[in-house]
Amino acid sequence: MKYSLELSAATRPEWVKTVLSNFPAFLRDHADCERKASAMAMSFVAKYPDRVEIIPELIETAREELGHFHQVYTHMEKRGIRLARDMKEDPYIKALLELCRTDPPNRFLDRLLLASIIECRGAERFRIVWAALENDAELKEFYHQLWVSEAKHGNIFVKMALNYFDEQQVYLRLTELNEAEGKIVQTLQLRAALH
Ligand SMILES: [Fe+2]
Ligand SMILES: [Fe+2]
Repeated sequence: MKYSLELSAATRPEWVKTVLSNFPAFLRDHADCERKASAMAMSFVAKYPDRVEIIPELIETAREELGHFHQVYTHMEKRGIRLARDMKEDPYIKALLELCRTDPPNRFLDRLLLASIIECRGAERFRIVWAALENDAELKEFYHQLWVSEAKHGNIFVKMALNYFDEQQVYLRLTELNEAEGKIVQTLQLRAALH
């Protein structure tokens, strides 16, 4: 059984140029994304305390994402870069959340599948950053590690969904959300940010 997905649209080549033009801003945004990914995993635990099949893996994911946050922060600290002062709304996440259906079972499914798509997009982009970084061997190695770790997370959330929904339903909705995500990334304004 296949748990992973192919993104429906590749990131535009101009994106990484925007990132490299202001890497401190990218690191600040990346740190925020890792912190939010950790909080998101724990929010599933808070919202669905009866879903005991997935709670251990959610806690483990939250710890891993918090670990990523710590790693990004350490790289920022070394380079004299502060965390972002004010939290701005992430237009990508906002557009994705608008795709979620509102009735409770479907909402649960959509949130899990969106989490997997977000992880896959993160993995794709960390791989692009890894390939593009030239002058900083330490950061280059770091983005290589992250790419591998986020790609693994892409599978976890689909697997979680398969505990509660049948395979056909999961893959049908995954395909729909994946197509919609591809359209969203193609229309968003480019920023020195993960999304
Ligand atoms: Fe992460
Ligand atoms: Fe992740």
